[in-house]
Formats: sequence, C-alpha cells, structure tokens
Amino acid sequence: MTSYEPQIYNSKITGYVFACWILAAFGGLMFGYDIGISGGVTGMDDFLIKFFPKIHERKLHASENNYCKYDDQMLQLFTSSLYLAALVSSFFASKACTVLGRKPTILMASTFFIAGAIFSAAAEAKWMLILGRILFGVGVGFGNEAVPLFLTEIAPIQHRGAVNVLFQLFVTIGILIANLVNYATGMIHPNGWRISLGLAAVPGAILFIGSLIITETPPNLLERGKVTEAKEALKKIRGVEDVEEEFEQIVAAAEQGKLVKKPFRKLFLKSAFPALFISNIIQVFQQFTGINAIMFYAPVLFQTLGFKTDASLLSSVITGLVNVGSTFVAVFLVDKFGRRKLLLQASVQMFISQVAIGAILLTHLKDSGTLDKGMAALVVILVCTFVMSFAWSWGPMGWLIPSEIYPIETRSSGFAVAVSTNMVFTFVIAQAFLSMMCHLKAYIFFFFSAWILAMGLFVVFLLPETKGVPIHLVEERLWRQHPVWKKFMPSTDHGNGMA
Ligand code: BGC
Repeated sequence: MTSYEPQIYNSKITGYVFACWILAAFGGLMFGYDIGISGGVTGMDDFLIKFFPKIHERKLHASENNYCKYDDQMLQLFTSSLYLAALVSSFFASKACTVLGRKPTILMASTFFIAGAIFSAAAEAKWMLILGRILFGVGVGFGNEAVPLFLTEIAPIQHRGAVNVLFQLFVTIGILIANLVNYATGMIHPNGWRISLGLAAVPGAILFIGSLIITETPPNLLERGKVTEAKEALKKIRGVEDVEEEFEQIVAAAEQGKLVKKPFRKLFLKSAFPALFISNIIQVFQQFTGINAIMFYAPVLFQTLGFKTDASLLSSVITGLVNVGSTFVAVFLVDKFGRRKLLLQASVQMFISQVAIGAILLTHLKDSGTLDKGMAALVVILVCTFVMSFAWSWGPMGWLIPSEIYPIETRSSGFAVAVSTNMVFTFVIAQAFLSMMCHLKAYIFFFFSAWILAMGLFVVFLLPETKGVPIHLVEERLWRQHPVWKKFMPSTDHGNGMA
C-alpha cells in the first residue's frame, strides 16, 4: 500500500515543546502505573487478609487447582472497576476536550487521579477501595482521551508517530515503576499495599503541574474561534515565526469542522464508517492480544506456574523492562517504516509466542504441581518475546491510529468512542481472565492466538498506511484510494473540499 512523504512545514524542536511532550506524556505514566499496580497488590497477603480473607485461605492450600486459585469475581472487580469508570467518563472527557480544551481536560484528569490515590491509600473498607478505583478510572478516562489527541495535534507531522508514541512509552514506564514499587512494598508489612496505591499521586501531581505549563493545541483553539491565540500557540510549539502555510491548513480543516453541530451523530454517517470501524476494531484487537492477562496478572500468572511470590514479582519486573525497552523501537521506527509493517511483523511474533506458551503449559503444567525450572524459564522468555512485539505495535498503534484518522469535527468524539471501546475490552479481560484461565486452562493461550491471526489479516486487507498523511487529507488519501473503503465515500465531491 502506498505511503506518503509528509509535507514538512517550518519547525524547530525547542525546549518548551519538548517539555510539553514529556509533561503530557505523564498522563500515560498515570495510566500505566494503575495497570501495573493492581496485579502486585492483589498478590500481597496483607491486602488479601484485610479485604479478601476467603481468597487468602484458598491461596494457602497448596493442593488447590493451579489454574483456579485466584478465580474470584470480587477480586477481579477490584482490578476492573477502574475501566468501567474510565469508559463512562471518556464521553464527558470528549465534551470537555472540545468545549474547554485539551489542556483543562488534562488538568481534570490529574485531579481525579490524585483523589483516587488518597482514597485507595486510606482504604479501611472495600467500598473505599472501590471508590478509589473509580476515581482513578475517571482520571484515566479524561487522561486517555485528552493526552493522545494533545500529542498528535502539537507534533510536527514528520514526527507525529514518535510524539504520540511517547504516551505509550510512558504507559510502559508507569507499569514498570509499579512493578518495582510492588517488589519493594511487598516486603513492608502490613501496609505495603497502601504505599503502592498511594504513590499513584506522584505522577498525578506531576501531570497537574504539567497541565498548567503546557499550551492549548492550535486546532482546538480554532475550533473554539480563538484565531489569534491559535496562531500564537502554533508559533510557540514550532519555535519559528513563519507558520503561515501550516496555519492555513489547520484553519481550513477547522472551518470545515465548525459546520458540524452534532459530532457524535456525524460519526454514524456512511462516510465516517472506515474511521469508526478501524479505530474501534484496533481497540478490540489490542485487548484480545491477551496483553493485559500479563500486565494485570503477571505476578499471579507466574505464581500459577509455581514461582514463589518474590520470584514472580521479579519476573514481572523483567517483562516490564522488556516492555519499556521495546517501545523505544516504536518511537524510532514508526515514522520511518510506517504503522503497517510494525503491526504485521508483531502479529507473527506474538502468534508464535502465544502458541508456544500454550503448548508448554498443556504438556507440562498439570492442575496441581509446578513447572520444572527450565520450562518455567522458557515460559518467561516467551512472555518477553510476546510483550516485546506488542510494545512496538498494537500497544502504541492503539492510541496513535485513532488519533490521526478523524477530521477535526469528529476527532474528539471519534477518539472518545475508541477510548471507551478500549476500556470495555480491558474491563472484559480484567474481569474474565482469571475465570477464563480456570476453565480454559492452557487453552486460553490458543484462544488469544486465534485473535492474533485475525489481526494480521485485518492489517493486510483493511488497514491503510497512515504515516505522513496530513489529517486534512485523510479522506482523499486513505479512504478514496482503498479498495474496500472507497465504497463508503460519497461519489460526487471529487477531491473533497477538506484539503
Ligand atoms: C494498552 C494497555 C496495556 C499496555 C501495556 C496499552 O497500550 O492500552 O491495556 O496494558 O499498553 O503496555
């Protein structure tokens, strides 16, 4: 499929713009910290004794079924309630993003997050714990809506992929930090878990300060009729005075957008279908890679394989390191090779890893007993090769592609639907994984492999390359030239008025 060399406008990477990227990316760190912290916390005895004593009892029985000892709806609800809250709140976040702007939405995200940290750390009863999770969730809903859009909109087009991937990079750093924190607090009794949950306030506070420093994005300022401010903002983020040419393009795209009064309704027009379909199916696929079975439950998963608590936290630190390291590959290659190549290569690698894990567990792990050392090490290696390929593909592309295929008028609403879909399926995996593992046993890995196969086919046949395509030319270059998607485009307005 054709890929385009982007039209390059005047720009410099100034200290200020770099600071904007990094500060906003802290929204990703907040999200990642949350993903990483719950698995470790739910593996801690002190936490289980206080809130889930029955599960703790069950865990003590060594003869208990390997695949089922953590299957408890309430425990899973602890992990997954966050995603329900995030899913609902992303719609409010979309409104806030359009009407108030990306910057205040990021500020709100950090405030919810800090409140979540306070409630969780102070929890004396289950309801406080769940309330804390919900506040975290609202923070994630607001942050995940506003931050990727913000990054995509302030990036110079030739670096758009890399700048957006900073969000994912910080997600992975957040997960890793959470794993390290859990590793340390696991040794602090009886309140280690409080430290784990409370430290979430740190990235929250950094994002709070960051949100006061960053600029509003030019497309959003224009969307709200603030023409002079938009131009000033563009000069500031490009680090040059002469921004005329790029500014005209953004104005043209924003003018088009202003004509649209009901952005959510516009999303359901036939011509919006390709973007709607692609941005949502990518979320379903991202979650059905099975990544969060590992991210949330790595310590539990490794304990299932017969590692002791310490060893299993350590193994999840290793997978966390691999996750961060491999995301750099995406930062450096996404604007060079494009999105499709990374996704395709990764689908093959993920498929092989999952099938191999399934095969080892099927042949070597019985309902009780443990894996022998060599096999257990091999499983850790395979988990790493799986995580590695996710990190340079479906992880970052899940946030990048939906942020670059909508025109301005449906961008925040379209992106909000995608964020919610991501949260629904993250919820499904978080809620169902432990039960699925109990019923499907080793076959769960074959279940994920089948999804990965479908994803590869999707990329081959349905995903156009978005690298270097300016947002105002998406319809003309992506949809109208694609054998399947061109059928959804109105036939009359040739060349379309958006350019
Ligand atoms: C996904 C998360 C996942 C993380 C792993 C993100 O892109 O949305 O669900 O846990 O990547 O690094």
